[in-house]
Amino acid sequence: MRYLAINLVQEGMKVGKTIFNEQGVVLISANSVLTSPAINKLEQLGYKGLLIDDEFSQGVEYHENFVSNEVRVSLAKKLNSALNLSSCGKIPHSEIDGLQSMLSDIVDEMLSRREINLNLLELKMFDNYTYFHSVNVAVIALAIAFNMKLKRSDMLIVGTAALLHDIGKLFIGTEIVNKPGSLTDEEYEIMKTHSEKGYKVLSSGNGLSLKTTISVLSHHEHYDGSGYPNGLAGEDIILFGRIICIADVYDALTSDRPYRKGCSVIEAIEYVMANSGTLFDPKLVKIFSSKIYPFPEGATVLLSNGETGLVLSNNHEFCLRPKLKITSGSDHRIVDLIYDTEYRSVVITGLEQ
Ligand SMILES: [Fe+2]
Repeated sequence: MRYLAINLVQEGMKVGKTIFNEQGVVLISANSVLTSPAINKLEQLGYKGLLIDDEFSQGVEYHENFVSNEVRVSLAKKLNSALNLSSCGKIPHSEIDGLQSMLSDIVDEMLSRREINLNLLELKMFDNYTYFHSVNVAVIALAIAFNMKLKRSDMLIVGTAALLHDIGKLFIGTEIVNKPGSLTDEEYEIMKTHSEKGYKVLSSGNGLSLKTTISVLSHHEHYDGSGYPNGLAGEDIILFGRIICIADVYDALTSDRPYRKGCSVIEAIEYVMANSGTLFDPKLVKIFSSKIYPFPEGATVLLSNGETGLVLSNNHEFCLRPKLKITSGSDHRIVDLIYDTEYRSVVITGLEQ
């Protein structure tokens, strides 16, 4: 199975994995043959790429994330219905219970595994920032929490706080939250109140722990003390808030917004690494950057020498140096970006689009 950007998908290709819409309804089942209208429809709906099963990708094992797309869609649906109900200023207890029950299942599934790596491509196969951002933040934050070997109860706190981190934005005018452009100083000051607004809403008797609400309050604090609302620094910021901060910034950077296109996965990873020790906790950046696969098995990448290659396997230590099958030209040779001396100065510049 391999991933193809939507503009490279052609009529007659076979779908590798079932595709769901935002409501969890099956749009196209695995093994269906794509038609031109179906491809156009998926593109209109915001699908950036699909998993295709073809002869070329025989033997390439695609590894789905620990949260499958189907579960990610169900979680987003549940979260968005909870957020709609909380616009009156209080999130109903039953909605929190429903979210935590889904998170419990996800955490149990994670704890049944020996290792968790994050397939970053999968988080962006379908991009709808408003609908999926908080779920993606939870998935990334949980992957970091797992790799820190946090206990089950702490992983649940991380997941819950990550899902609800921006709930305070519901109480800020949409003309500011959805403004298609940069905010004025005054608007930015209003926007910054969302952490405290979220903390207050979540503290109003719905059974959430203090650690959860403090994590929401702290998700914009920076490791060097330059964040808000309290300008806390280092380990004075609750660990879960520090984890969510990395996940939030990474996902926001890679998301398309009405006023700008999301940056590439490589640029976002470099941003996170460049801000290790200033915006972000360096220990957490190290964990994040060593457990991600920006180009998972099945992705087709562009190389700086003009060639394209299908990712066959990833290297745990160097996530940007996988083993590839060269797909351009007629000689489909296998290249290992770590050991092949001929490719020492060649880098991946992005996904084939
Ligand atoms: Fe936020």
